[in-house]
Amino acid sequence: MENKIVYLNGDYLPLAEAKVSVLDRGFLFGDGVYEVIPSYHGHLFHLQAHLERLENSLAGIRLANPHSREQWEAIFAPLLDSKLNQYIYLQVTRGVASKRDHGFPENIPATVFVMCSEIVPFAGLNDGVKAISMDDTRWQFCNVKAITLLGNILHRQAAIDHGCAEALLVKDGNVVEGAASNVFAVIDGVLCTPPKSNAILPGITRDVILELAISNNIACSEADIPFAALQTASEIWVCSSTREIIPIVELDAKPVANGKPGPVWHSMNQIFQAYKQSLL
Ligand code: PDD
Repeated sequence: MENKIVYLNGDYLPLAEAKVSVLDRGFLFGDGVYEVIPSYHGHLFHLQAHLERLENSLAGIRLANPHSREQWEAIFAPLLDSKLNQYIYLQVTRGVASKRDHGFPENIPATVFVMCSEIVPFAGLNDGVKAISMDDTRWQFCNVKAITLLGNILHRQAAIDHGCAEALLVKDGNVVEGAASNVFAVIDGVLCTPPKSNAILPGITRDVILELAISNNIACSEADIPFAALQTASEIWVCSSTREIIPIVELDAKPVANGKPGPVWHSMNQIFQAYKQSLL
């Protein structure tokens, strides 16, 4: 096991020494939330937006935020390396109760775990990747970044089993997001993404793409995308903090348009990379 330094409940220690009780509610119930925050050469990308989403996720599961924004930033700092592109993974669970019981325990501290890993550039970035579509089998609070990820995991593994990089999830006839990504499609020349609701995670990369589209005069819209419209899209992308903006060139074994990353993706990827550089 890689023996990097991680943060657990107030201490920095080697990963192999970071231990949590088997009575932790994260372990027993998946009772917790998490965040993934990219850091480019030591600069945390859209940190305030990530911390705001963390606050919303914690409120969504009725768990008090154990730290102020300043304290979170101070916890992350020693884990970052200004020479690397990395991502912070942080997890807060409802802590270690004295016995297994579904109801919330009283007066126990949350478990706080933070680790930092290197961002490995995603292999499919330039050539695009394949995706499958699936009925969304997840729960009704997808806006909460819960550690309880079985639904997402089973969707992603089904994609992998089909030789694909992502599963696009369809709910009530509309594509909502990927198993671990938000989705964009270019339909009739307009860059579309589903609106925020409890059916999707409000992705930070998604927000940045929309802001960059508006400031660069790329026609865009937040609107439901019927699955039938997705099938006629000239471009489909998925996006996330760790993979950035990935073109989907094949959906359900059929090419998307000519089966190559499209011109809007090329522009947006350049704009996005330049924007990242501008923040350093
Ligand atoms: N996941 N939707 C889902 C279900 C996700 O899991 C993610 C990211 C996103 C994109 O959000 P953002 O742009 O803020 O990363 C959308 C992270 C990377 C993960 O679980 O590892």
